Amino acid sequence: MAATEKCPIGVFDSGYGGLTILSEIKKLMPEYDYLYLGDNARAPYGSRSFEVVYNFTLQAVKYLFGQGCRLVILACNTASAKALRTIQQNDLPKIAPDRRVLGVIRPTVEKLGELTRTGQIGILGTQGTIQSESYTMEIEKMYHGYSVYGQACPMWVPLVEYKEAESDGADFFVKKYIDELFGKSDGIDTVILGCTHYPLLYPKIEKYMPHGVNIIKQGPIIAESLKNYLLRHPEIDSMCSKTSTCKYLTTESAGKFAPMASIFLNEPVTAEQITLK
Ligand code: DGL
Repeated sequence: MAATEKCPIGVFDSGYGGLTILSEIKKLMPEYDYLYLGDNARAPYGSRSFEVVYNFTLQAVKYLFGQGCRLVILACNTASAKALRTIQQNDLPKIAPDRRVLGVIRPTVEKLGELTRTGQIGILGTQGTIQSESYTMEIEKMYHGYSVYGQACPMWVPLVEYKEAESDGADFFVKKYIDELFGKSDGIDTVILGCTHYPLLYPKIEKYMPHGVNIIKQGPIIAESLKNYLLRHPEIDSMCSKTSTCKYLTTESAGKFAPMASIFLNEPVTAEQITLK
């Protein structure tokens, strides 16, 4: 691919969750081209070690760069928590100093200031995201005096991946983790859905969330933040192609990915299987 050729924006997730981000990005910026990559064959990432998530994410970023992407969004909290900083600080300067990788944690945290009154913030995420304390660190960088309560929800991604998000059985685990979070403090007034799979559980999350609590869904926030980023970085924007296409890649079989992705996006999807190494 010639260095001057315009290319799609890369969007990466461990599996399907990033589609909840992609759909909001496409809604806000339908004119751009997108290349989505889900590492479904190796998902979930949530319980994997730092090294493994970092290595898998770096492989994906390199793959998307190989497809020409100048900008890659890690539409995955676990990858953003465990791999983004190292990729930005150590890898990019060596492998692609003119390309950019952005995550989902910082734009989400930027939103808190306008929502919370008590300064008590709940984070619902995968084990990896919660253990990394990435949200806590980002919040401490941006605000003073906030209290952050993390709650790992290890059963939520499998519920979504196994198409059980709307089943009666899902209620038990949705309620369980929300109750555990509010058991840590009943002053929490704002909760971040810190995993891109969780919007698929939104009706049940809303049902069991204490009344009046702000629930932050990331999709619209990431879309808005990407739009602002491209306005502030015309040198990146000018390298993004704009013919309103979206292509889907998965490390699982395309026949398995496509029907599930269609549920996430609410539109028919065709996909191509690739291998990451
Ligand atoms: N969608 C990913 C996230 O936002 C988690 C899914 C997984 O565990 O792979 O954290």
